Amino acid sequence: ALLARARAIGAEFVCEPESVAKGVREYLRLMDKGLSEPGQAMTMIPTYVTAVPNGTEKGVYLAVDLGGTNFRVCSIDLHGDSKFTLTQAKTPIPKELMTGNSKDLFSFLAKQVAYFIEKHHSQTIDAATPTNFLKLGFTFSFPVDQVALNKGHLLRWTKGFDIPDAVGKDVCELLQKEIDALGLPVRVVALVNDTVGTLMARSYASPGKSGTLLGAIFGTGTNGAYVEKLSRIPKLKKMSEESGTKFDHSSGVMVINTEWGAFDNAMKVLPDTPYDRALDKNSVNPGMQMFEKRVSGMFLGEILRNAIVALMDHGLFKSAHGTSIDENGPLFTAWSIDTSALSTIQADYTSEYTLTKQLLEQQLGVSAATTGDAMAIKTLVYGIGKRSARLSAIPIAATALATGAYENYKKAKADAVPGQEVEKIDIGVDGSVVEYYPGFERYLREALRDIQPLVPGAAGLEDAIRIGIAKDGSGVGAALIALVA
Ligand code: BG6
Ligand code: GLC
Repeated sequence: ALLARARAIGAEFVCEPESVAKGVREYLRLMDKGLSEPGQAMTMIPTYVTAVPNGTEKGVYLAVDLGGTNFRVCSIDLHGDSKFTLTQAKTPIPKELMTGNSKDLFSFLAKQVAYFIEKHHSQTIDAATPTNFLKLGFTFSFPVDQVALNKGHLLRWTKGFDIPDAVGKDVCELLQKEIDALGLPVRVVALVNDTVGTLMARSYASPGKSGTLLGAIFGTGTNGAYVEKLSRIPKLKKMSEESGTKFDHSSGVMVINTEWGAFDNAMKVLPDTPYDRALDKNSVNPGMQMFEKRVSGMFLGEILRNAIVALMDHGLFKSAHGTSIDENGPLFTAWSIDTSALSTIQADYTSEYTLTKQLLEQQLGVSAATTGDAMAIKTLVYGIGKRSARLSAIPIAATALATGAYENYKKAKADAVPGQEVEKIDIGVDGSVVEYYPGFERYLREALRDIQPLVPGAAGLEDAIRIGIAKDGSGVGAALIALVA
């Protein structure tokens, strides 16, 4: 009975082909809207990055990275032959800093930079003069209204961060101030979203000649940045007229940070379940980031927790040999399941579900779950994870179609002589969900094939797309942008 009920809940997460196709059509519409009108939920932020690297770039740069599971400080040595060496230090972000004030957060970041350069670049510090400083690229993975390569105002927090006094401020300045307070020879020269960094890094390292189209994160949060024709960004013309900057709009490209986590906040096409609704209600930003709340790791864990609690009315944990479950414990506390939990459970092929039981004990305080309980929970995980992967096909398909990348691919294919390889559309990805959730790319590709007969111009699309991990990409990407600065 328990397993049957778990299957019924799992079935609530099924995402049919037509549902994905509807998503693609709506995404295409909102993409155009965001490129035309400032202030849309799916913000389509111009980044002022107008070229992607080709692998010949060189130099040593610092990067800091805030907004995923960890805060990271790295130095990157670009060798100029598509290769690089990376030295890095990772620390989890203390939870209390995520909802406190901006001073505490940014001085914490600056201190981590200080430890890092003391350890790895002490010679640079000794040699520091007013003209000898390290250039730092700041990967800041939140929506920012970028006004220059090293200047951008925070639009809103996402992924559980909530520090009201930082909204509207220039985050580069906030970081630079704390760095200066410590007397470090470091200059923040570039502000980069993690998706833009991923795009740059993949393009630097990718095997193709024509560069990467899209950089995407499927991790704690989800988002993508892609290369768009200037002629398709009408709002840029308006924006630059207002600010008086001269810009040639007739040709060329610009990287756009889509902020697709906010796709369909109006909930016209996205699937919805009681577990999604409970999550949204409990979040710091109800009604926002509705796509992200169905796709990315931080939220998948909370959807799972809600579904587990629902399953307890149907016998889950009932035979847990007499242990009682603390009503104020983590099982009943929002956000207690971390980003990696679904991957761990989905990858648990032990006959007794040992890994799942361990996770239940460590994260949810359930110490005596049975194999039947674990099996039921894995059924939920499968449904939630597969829906996430299938939804992730939406922005990927829409981007390949809207940019004309797929049209170009088809033309090249038609012109190719028999046996000649045609370069596929390159997509760089990073983040704990795409990297560790078993079957994520396979389910995503299944959904791409499902929509082929349902969306105009999409026949054959799945086969034209190459997806590659850009591991730790955004640090490298930030260095590449710092180099241009
Ligand atoms: C890291 C990048 O590799 O991946 C970060 O350096 C990015 O910039 C992160 O935010 C996303 O993954 P997760 O799972 O840590 O959110
Ligand atoms: C959230 C942020 C976005 C970031 C993404 C992935 O969606 O708003 O800026 O790129 O998470 O980290």
